[in-house]
Amino acid sequence: MEEVNTVGRELADVVVVDAVRTAFGRAGEKGIFWNTRAEDLVIPLLRALMKRSPKISPDMVEDNIWGVTNQVKEQGGTLGRLVTMLADWGYEIPGCSIDRMCAGGLTAIGYGVTYIACGMADCLIAGGVEHMGHLPMGFMRDPHPRAEEAMGGPSAFNMGMTAENIHDRFPEFTKEMADAYAVESQRKADQAIKADKMKDMIIPIEVELADGTGIVADKDQQPRPDTTMNGLKNLRTPFREKGRATAGNASGLNDGACAVLLMSENRAKKMDIKPKMRWIASAVAAVDPTIMGIAPVPATQKALKKAGMTIDDMDIIELNEAFAVQALYCINRLGMKWDDPRVNKWGGAIAYGHPLASSGPRLVAFLAGLFKEYPDAKYGLTTMCVGRGQGYSVIWENIQ
Ligand SMILES: CC(C)(COP(=O)(O)OP(=O)(O)OC[C@H]1O[C@@H](n2cnc3c(N)ncnc32)[C@H](O)[C@@H]1OP(=O)(O)O)[C@@H](O)C(=O)NCCC(=O)NCCS
Repeated sequence: MEEVNTVGRELADVVVVDAVRTAFGRAGEKGIFWNTRAEDLVIPLLRALMKRSPKISPDMVEDNIWGVTNQVKEQGGTLGRLVTMLADWGYEIPGCSIDRMCAGGLTAIGYGVTYIACGMADCLIAGGVEHMGHLPMGFMRDPHPRAEEAMGGPSAFNMGMTAENIHDRFPEFTKEMADAYAVESQRKADQAIKADKMKDMIIPIEVELADGTGIVADKDQQPRPDTTMNGLKNLRTPFREKGRATAGNASGLNDGACAVLLMSENRAKKMDIKPKMRWIASAVAAVDPTIMGIAPVPATQKALKKAGMTIDDMDIIELNEAFAVQALYCINRLGMKWDDPRVNKWGGAIAYGHPLASSGPRLVAFLAGLFKEYPDAKYGLTTMCVGRGQGYSVIWENIQ
């Protein structure tokens, strides 16, 4: 057999052509998606991507890669493969589901980037979906008897407890600072929503609420624009008695999906398609699972090193806010002030919610929107922490 020499092969440049999402609902019976299945969050996004880029047709989509944390029931059975058929795109579009918990969707994008960069595909869809109302965190999981010991103790299994652990180990990040950070996230989100910044990325879906009323889900359900320091001060600390993490300074439990259309830059150029941003570098890193929220720091440092850049080169930063304390830690350890204007300009997951695997693509959608808004911004970062102690960071270049 002829030997194939892959050493020295040139990589293709990869671009984001578009990114769309559903509104993010609150998990549970009061949520806008209580009567909507996870697949039905994804299908309208697939169709919207094609409608918004009319030069691209489903038969050009060479893979459909979906991050899904809880791959059981409606989210099981290789959702990425099924949804293109449910979208009436025929049998010919491959698809898969992958899992890296909260960074499932960002990992899907990462795989998509590598497929295209190495020439395995020219055009594909990567996204993330999570219906936490139907499939709560940890649902039907059966941990290995040694898992607790291997991961450093029982708190590694409870994300809220990992936030409390960060407060314990790094007491310079206080409850008051976490609350102030949350107030600011809500304020920025409110400003962005009122200025219609979500409109271009949210695909409206007709849904039926728990009481049978029909509505069009086109707005995020979680933001609380009336959030104040006073209102947050005495909230219950559900993860520990006299703790510091509360419903106000944590991301919530949500339902939602987000999808990204990726192409090789060459193909996009040939088709006269105007992409939004170009992939520069990615890195994944792992840390002690009991303080999983600190992991964006090593992941970002690694990605920056690969790109030959520093944090000062990043003009816009989208950091997933699983908990205010971990966001504060990461911002500080990456060398920024807690209210650095480059970070989460439109607010973050504390305001919008965090439907696990869909949040990475949501960061990408936000960055694409912000790149358009700030054409002078050259580079941007999307980064997030992951349960069980991982961080995932991606650096992008603005080409709008
Ligand atoms: C923190 C958490 C347990 C709260 O869940 P919850 O109790 O269902 O949250 P709710 O939205 O009902 O809020 C609880 C209370 O806080 C209040 N509250 C929440 N946010 C508030 C805000 N910004 N301002 C004022 N009050 C607020 C609510 O009104 C509610 O009050 P009530 O009990 O009087 O009705 C849940 O959101 C959670 O687990 N978050 C973390 C998710 C996670 O781990 N994700 C993975 C990350 S890696």
